[in-house]
Amino acid sequence: MKGFYKLSELDAQQARRLAERALALRAGAPARRFPQLALGLLFMSPSLRTQASMQRAAAKMALQLIQLQSGGNGVWNLELSDGAVMDGTTVEHVREAAAVLGRFVDMLAIRAFAGGQSLEEDWADPVLRAFQQFAGVPIVNLESAQWHPCQALADWSTLDLFRVPRRAKFVLTWAWHPKPLPQAVPNSTLTMAAQRGMDVVVLRPDGYDLRPEVLAEARALAAASGGTVTVTSNRKEALEGASVVYAKSWGSLVHYGDAAAEGAFRSGLRDWCVSNAWFSGAAPDAKFMHCLPVRRNVVVRDEVLDGPRSIVIDQAENRLHAQMALLEELAASVESARRGSAPEAVHTASL
Ligand code: CP
Repeated sequence: MKGFYKLSELDAQQARRLAERALALRAGAPARRFPQLALGLLFMSPSLRTQASMQRAAAKMALQLIQLQSGGNGVWNLELSDGAVMDGTTVEHVREAAAVLGRFVDMLAIRAFAGGQSLEEDWADPVLRAFQQFAGVPIVNLESAQWHPCQALADWSTLDLFRVPRRAKFVLTWAWHPKPLPQAVPNSTLTMAAQRGMDVVVLRPDGYDLRPEVLAEARALAAASGGTVTVTSNRKEALEGASVVYAKSWGSLVHYGDAAAEGAFRSGLRDWCVSNAWFSGAAPDAKFMHCLPVRRNVVVRDEVLDGPRSIVIDQAENRLHAQMALLEELAASVESARRGSAPEAVHTASL
């Protein structure tokens, strides 16, 4: 394993094995320990679950931890553009920042959300790609402009934990939100459920499609795993027989970068707030999932979040176990690559 940018870099069998290992760790299996290795965490966007679970994972695995934040008194404001004349707000180029961090740590995990201004720029995932290019150590994506693979892996293990069958109906539903949010989570949720072999329905109002490239990849993954992917705006049909309803808001590609136009576009969609009425009759036993944080009574009503179908807290806990499973594999790969290196190439962080 050379890093972890998106879940579909793993084949379905590898992903299934990591999800199983996550549940074994959750059940109390001892984690592998790597006291000679250092893990770097760089948060360029806010987080509760990802920060806390990565810190806890590092402690349980005896990894040396270096955690950095951007903004305020955090790391310098980074420049990403090649050839930039840096006489503005950026102080350090990612070429140096990534390369230097790569001398201090053996694995580097980064969170950097979409800028939300340019669709093409966000699709290129410039921060994650730059660190992959210049750090010289494996990079773990803790949510980039396009993908949130650690969330997806944890979600896979959560479906296993609740014994949701592989071919069950999985509804990824859009929900209203006051702001246009990035598509990293819905992209990752869709491809995860497709790769797991589920019958995935993307339920969204017209104008809220995910990128065609993401849908095409999900359809290919589903076909390979025996599942299906459909897209609809018909809520009743979508929810009929669902085993899981996974809510997430995301911004429209039609008005990407124009928050005012997007706000007007979604102004009539406030009824896209998941309530108990969504389930009655159509999907009485369906579980409710959300990656959190969630705006109560905006994205989902209290009655659902506080009711028996909600599994969001277990879902969040599984971030820890899934990331430990992932880091075990990654750290073992780093160690085995080191053992194959000539002595002079030994990485400074392991000295
Ligand atoms: N789901 C998730 O990534 O949570 P945080 O943004 O709090 O890390």
